[in-house]
Parts: sequence; structure tokens; C-alpha cells
Amino acid sequence: MFPERRLRRLRKSEGMRRLVRETRVTVDDLVCPVFVGEGLDVPKTVGSMSGIRRIPPEMVAEEISGIWQMGIPAVMLFGIPESKDVDGSSSYDEEGVVQNAIRNARRAAPEMAIMADVCMCQYTSTGHCGIVKGGVVDNDSTILSLGKIAASYARAGVDVVSPSAMMDGQVAAIRSSLDEAGFPDVAIMSHAAKHHSSMYSPFRDVADCLPQFGDRRGYQMPYTNPREAMMEVESDISEGADIVMIKPAMAYLDLVAEAKRNFGVPVAAYSVSGEYAMVHAAHSMGWLDGPGTTLEILSSIKRAGADIIVTYSAKDAAGLLS
Ligand code: PBG
Ligand code: ZN
Repeated sequence: MFPERRLRRLRKSEGMRRLVRETRVTVDDLVCPVFVGEGLDVPKTVGSMSGIRRIPPEMVAEEISGIWQMGIPAVMLFGIPESKDVDGSSSYDEEGVVQNAIRNARRAAPEMAIMADVCMCQYTSTGHCGIVKGGVVDNDSTILSLGKIAASYARAGVDVVSPSAMMDGQVAAIRSSLDEAGFPDVAIMSHAAKHHSSMYSPFRDVADCLPQFGDRRGYQMPYTNPREAMMEVESDISEGADIVMIKPAMAYLDLVAEAKRNFGVPVAAYSVSGEYAMVHAAHSMGWLDGPGTTLEILSSIKRAGADIIVTYSAKDAAGLLS
């Protein structure tokens, strides 16, 4: 007790503070999202996500080698196709935007962990994450399509598929599709507990996947239900998920910590577009220091127990941390 115990003794200098640091964010923790727009000639920016662009397919190789050279070990590819239909059939086209991007990324950085989002909302004319039948997203036909998408990504050379549709049984369907196609070594990082969040709006601008009617409450998790979130994590692991993800990150760190405590697999946290946009908007107003806030948020995600952080700040953080 005070006056014998004085915790300030270990905060006296930078050297002391470095010695007793308990949490370290490193570039090794980061996954950098990359958006590829089919048919684009020049990069397309959106107002809500400063510094984030949709890039043309021709720029994928350059973008990926740049990210690899910054020391970032992994990317998460998202595609924006030229054509959409009710069934989202361009999502499993062997020559689709993501499939081609995977091949180019693989050539540009052979040792990089190439991850790709597996969902249908950029590909369906409804903007929903699956096939709409009678006004609702049909679970069991959707998971078959998700399996087809994953297999086509695997044929293109992906390392990790990341289903984000929040369909029941999506991990099992993808695992069996991958195994049947001869890809037992392609891993699954499931969006196990992906919540219905107001913080996805900027992403929908970049990825062009706004639902054309209704919302995603019928499949994404309510943020009020932590027990249910752990059931989602548990069932994804039992269906074969290699890594489980909590999404969003910043307002969901209790769930990151709980998933880490309860299960043995690596836990990922997805710091979503709205989290990024809030920091950048406040920084641009001069209301806070953006880089400092970014490092603070990333550290808190790590401190909560995340092994992997998907973040739009990956490149900025790589610079700040080096
Ligand atoms: C859609 C998808 C979304 C995000 C990732 N995949 C948006 C949504 O569910 O509407 C959001 C990511 C972000 O906001 O950064 N499958
Ligand atoms: Zn989706």
C-alpha cells in the first residue's frame, strides 16, 4: 500500500515504460482489406472512407506487393462485380473479380496470407447476403452457393476464406465443398459473431452492397446477446472454423475477451469501416489525434485478446509501428 507502493516508479522514462509494456501491437497482427472493382480504369474513392479506394484489377499486383513490402502478412480481398443478379451468380464465376485478384495477388506475393471474403451481397441485385426467395434470404440454398464461391477461390489459390453472410451452417457447407474440391488445406476464418451494426455504412459505399429492401437483421446478430454470440462461435468451431472473428471490434471487446477465454482457436477482430471513419472524421476536424487514437484502439483490441486484427488502418499502423 501507499506510501510503500508507488506504481509511478515504473513510468518514469521511456525505457522503463518499454520494459514493463504488457501489450504489443505488431505489423504481424494485421490484415489489410483490399477492394477490387471489376471494369474500373482508375481507383474510385468514397467520401466516407478517406484513404480507402476501390482499385482496378490491373492495379492488384502493385497494391499487394506494396502491402507485403510494408511487412503486413495478410490481405482480405473484396470484389465489386460489373453485373449483379438475384442469385449473385457472378460470385462463383471462375473468371470473377475476386478469383482473378487472388491469382494476381498470389503471383505478386507468393508468401502472403491471401484471404478473401465469402458473401453474396456485392453480387446480388437485392444487395442481400444470400439468395432471396419470397422476400427472405433462403438459408439452405445460399450456403450451397457460398460453398461454390469458396471452392472457386481455392482453385484460384486463396489461403483463407472468410464467410461473412451469417447463414446457419455456412462453415460446414464451405468446409465440405473445399474438401470435395480437393482443398483440405484452405483455412476458414469465419465471421462467427457478426453483429447487425450501424457502423457498416461506409463499407457499403465502398463495396456497393446496400440492401435494396429491408435490412440484415434477419441474419446478422443482435448486439444485445452475448450468450448467443458465444453459441455462434462454438457452432462455427464445431463446423470446422480454423479462426473465429468478432465484428465489429471496438464496441465488442467483451466478446473478443470471452471468445479468447473459452476457446482454443485464434480469435480475430474486425475493426469495421465505421470505426475507421469516426477516427478520421474527428481527426480531420482537429478534434483528436488520428494516429494516436488508431494505435490506442488497436492496442485495446490486442489487449482484449485478439490474435488477428482486420483493419483499414493496417497500412497507416505499419508505418507508425516501424
Ligand atoms: C457484407 C459485409 C459487410 C461488411 C463486411 N462484409 C457489410 C454488411 O454486412 O452490410 C462490413 C465491414 C465494414 O464495415 O468494414 N457481407
Ligand atoms: Zn454480405
